[in-house]
Amino acid sequence: MPSDTLTIPMNLGGTDSTFVLGPTAGLELPVHVPAPPPLWLVDRTVADLHAPWLDEIRACCPGADASDRTLVIEGGEGAKSPGQLVEIWDWLAGHALTREGTLVGVGGGTVLDLAGFAAATWRRGVHYVAIPTTLLAMVDAAIGGKTAINTAGLKNPVGSFHPARAILADAGFLTTLPRRWWRDGMAELIKTAIIGEPHLYADLWSHRGELADLLASGPDHEPVPHILGRLPWRDWIGRAARVKADIVNQDFLEGDLRRALNLGHTLGHVLEAWSATGDRPLGHGEAVSIGMAVVFRISAERGRCPLPVALQVIELLETCGLPVRCAAPSLDELERLLAGDKKTTVDTLRWVLPERVGAVDVNATVAAGELLKWLD
Ligand SMILES: NC(=O)c1ccc[n+]([C@@H]2O[C@H](COP(=O)([O-])OP(=O)(O)OC[C@H]3O[C@@H](n4cnc5c(N)ncnc54)[C@H](O)[C@@H]3O)[C@@H](O)[C@H]2O)c1
Ligand SMILES: [Zn+2]
Repeated sequence: MPSDTLTIPMNLGGTDSTFVLGPTAGLELPVHVPAPPPLWLVDRTVADLHAPWLDEIRACCPGADASDRTLVIEGGEGAKSPGQLVEIWDWLAGHALTREGTLVGVGGGTVLDLAGFAAATWRRGVHYVAIPTTLLAMVDAAIGGKTAINTAGLKNPVGSFHPARAILADAGFLTTLPRRWWRDGMAELIKTAIIGEPHLYADLWSHRGELADLLASGPDHEPVPHILGRLPWRDWIGRAARVKADIVNQDFLEGDLRRALNLGHTLGHVLEAWSATGDRPLGHGEAVSIGMAVVFRISAERGRCPLPVALQVIELLETCGLPVRCAAPSLDELERLLAGDKKTTVDTLRWVLPERVGAVDVNATVAAGELLKWLD
């Protein structure tokens, strides 16, 4: 394996799951496919923009012609739907995928959440490998075995824990990633640094000038020129991945430790689902950014987190071009959406409130009215 490759082994509920980060990570695939050839579920944009490299990765697994064994789907939140899942089940049936078979997902967090859930449910669970192609998926979504789809106007209410045998991450995919999705990934990167890597957080803060230059403005839908060369992404992705891997390795089924990763998410998921039918749906990272800004403000007001820390985090999010407030639902609507949040235990929602960089309280309570105060 090349020396510029980072490997992080995990064992998630008895299943080995290996995170590999490096320019040839995809070529490790055969090691993680017990009975080749696998089936492929690929994000359409990635299939179009990275065809030669994908062909090379697919060719390294022996067996039938991979193009006959690939389903290309439209990435984005709409992919995580029951209808899309049924289509995939039909396609898996058409290819007679057995329990020993492997499904490889290639794309951002949406395609991977869907592919992981399809793998979890098909024949009660087939092998799964994830090839993340967005920053958000590399630092967060692909790691840790949570899979889900959206339904009933809710985010992720149907899902399962089904770890990928391997997560093969190559920052090279990010050369084509539009600015809007870099920003979304930054929200999860900043979240992860706040929870478990104060040095990474300090590093991000010290590079805020470059981050602002690259991300704060500029066309949303175009790639960011030269971004990979301007900042130490491979180091940052590796450090964030290690934090998440350490947490899920210790607490796969989400007790208190893993719940820290929900910082900004209880409100974030509600805003994401609520905005989905509007003119400009919030991306997952944008919604999490607003969710984090609100809980930092609440913590600061309660005297649980120093105000300068809260203000600095909010400034860092804004520096990356992320929103920190938005139009708010009515109080009734907010309460209804919160009650539907999948993390509700009986009647009590437990919130993750930050105390400082490197420490969060995972058992806090927050009233809906308190959220509205800071939302817009
Ligand atoms: N399972 C988990 O633990 C977990 C954790 C965090 C987030 N998530 C989920 O992840 C999802 C968000 O993921 P995302 O931000 O990656 O969004 P995404 O999958 O929608 O990808 C963003 C956009 O980028 C495109 N794209 C993907 N790779 C590209 C590339 N290399 N070049 C150009 N375009 C590319 C996609 O087609 C899509 O349009 C949410 O649904 C969220 O709930 C899951
Ligand atoms: Zn998230």
